[in-house]
Amino acid sequence: MTQTQTPRSQWVPVALSKMIEAGTSAGTVVNGAEIVVWRDTAGAAHAWEDRCPHRGMKMSFGFVRGDHITCLYHGWEYDTSGTCRYVPAHPELEVPKSICISRYGTAEAGGMIWAYTPLGTTEQDPPPVLPALEGVRSVYMDASVARVSDTLQQHSSAPAGDDAALCNAITLTLENTVVTIGLQQISDGQCALHIAVPEGTAPVTKEALLDWCEDLRRTVEGLEAAA
Ligand code: FES
Repeated sequence: MTQTQTPRSQWVPVALSKMIEAGTSAGTVVNGAEIVVWRDTAGAAHAWEDRCPHRGMKMSFGFVRGDHITCLYHGWEYDTSGTCRYVPAHPELEVPKSICISRYGTAEAGGMIWAYTPLGTTEQDPPPVLPALEGVRSVYMDASVARVSDTLQQHSSAPAGDDAALCNAITLTLENTVVTIGLQQISDGQCALHIAVPEGTAPVTKEALLDWCEDLRRTVEGLEAAA
């Protein structure tokens, strides 16, 4: 197995692209911050604070209509700028523009959706640059990103090198397949690994890769428990 590790930036992978189909949403967490990841029906991905400004309902519980996402609780609708456009209880109301949801910078690369964190920071790094990849699965581990990263380094027979991408990702060569793993820190002791491979990778290779991830999970969680 050979490995390169990309430099860390504030771009964090928050989902595999294929898991957020057009017109759907899902909730996730980065360093304790709750994020709704959703895709409008035109195909654009969005990552926002997962909180409705009205009464605080999670927007990830809501639903997508066209280029609006609607809160499940009282039906307030927000456009892609995060601005509230419609309040069902007051259909004639011109909604104040101050009612809006905070957004993360959002990008898609390498079969993943990326958010620029933390919330409210101006994007200073360019979005990740990765080849077109096929997402395999997101794997969750009760271990820190640092623990996973260190463990991968120890398994590597090659030193960390430079990579064109600037993101929280590790590229491995595993069984003659280049595997890209996006690293999402959920909390100090939890993380998600978003696994992506070149398009057309054989199913048997993907299965072997997931077995390898399961071994990795057992290893890092064992190390975490023993620490
Ligand atoms: S809490 Fe979202 S519309 Fe009321």
